[in-house]
Amino acid sequence: MSSKNPLRSPIGKKLVTGVTGLGLVVFVFIHMTGNLALFTGNEAYNQYTHFLTSLGGLLYVIEAGLVAFFLFHIVNGIQIWLGKRKARPVGYDTYKSAGSPSQQSASSRSMIITGLILAVFLVVHVISFKFGPGGPGNADPAYVTTIGGEEVRDLAKLVRENFASPFYTFGYTFVMLLLVVHLRHGIWSALQSLGAMRPSLTPLVYTIGAVVGVLIGAGFIALPLAIYFNLI
Ligand code: HEM
Repeated sequence: MSSKNPLRSPIGKKLVTGVTGLGLVVFVFIHMTGNLALFTGNEAYNQYTHFLTSLGGLLYVIEAGLVAFFLFHIVNGIQIWLGKRKARPVGYDTYKSAGSPSQQSASSRSMIITGLILAVFLVVHVISFKFGPGGPGNADPAYVTTIGGEEVRDLAKLVRENFASPFYTFGYTFVMLLLVVHLRHGIWSALQSLGAMRPSLTPLVYTIGAVVGVLIGAGFIALPLAIYFNLI
């Protein structure tokens, strides 16, 4: 029995993946710029993360939205990939770039791989930072500091400790490079699905994807490397 829900059609799934993907781009951009606060000092960073925690109920609403966006994005992304596999069960031996305007390239085929690695990263990342020492359900006096007489979580200490390890630093750097690849193709693909299909727009849309992807990736990579090499 075929579904009547247009969002369950292949085009609907591309739209859902595109819209949730662009929402997640906004999140990662904000998250990346927030992290840069550590460049100005531990106190500024702890103040920023404490501000987020102090949003209370609003933060829970934002987090619930974020989880929903990630889940819809991942589930629809996997379904699109499965749908393409069903349509062409035997893979080609060799790939050639389809070139402009399709821009099918190594990054479009690797979306499923980079996406799944990012999903695993996300789980490990949230466990080690948000729910790490001093986090919710994991009270630890060694990760508490005071700002203006108020006790706040010392997340700056945890970030610095983690990125003192080469495993964390270079693991993160590698995953952030995959994020650039994922964003570069994902932003282009989402904008195409949302209507920027005119061939004349293709180079512009592709450049936007590449620039935004590299900016976000570079912003994220700067912090672990700066900490590891004792630059901040
Ligand atoms: C160098 C790179 C990164 C650093 C240093 C970093 C740092 C952090 C820290 C310290 C937290 C805990 C914040 C808190 O509890 O207030 C956090 C949470 C989080 N991070 Fe990252 N992050 C990085 C990259 C990423 C990337 C690439 C993604 C997404 C693909 C991501 C997604 C998240 C999410 C979803 C949360 C939980 C937010 C919440 O529930 O409030 N992070 N990150």
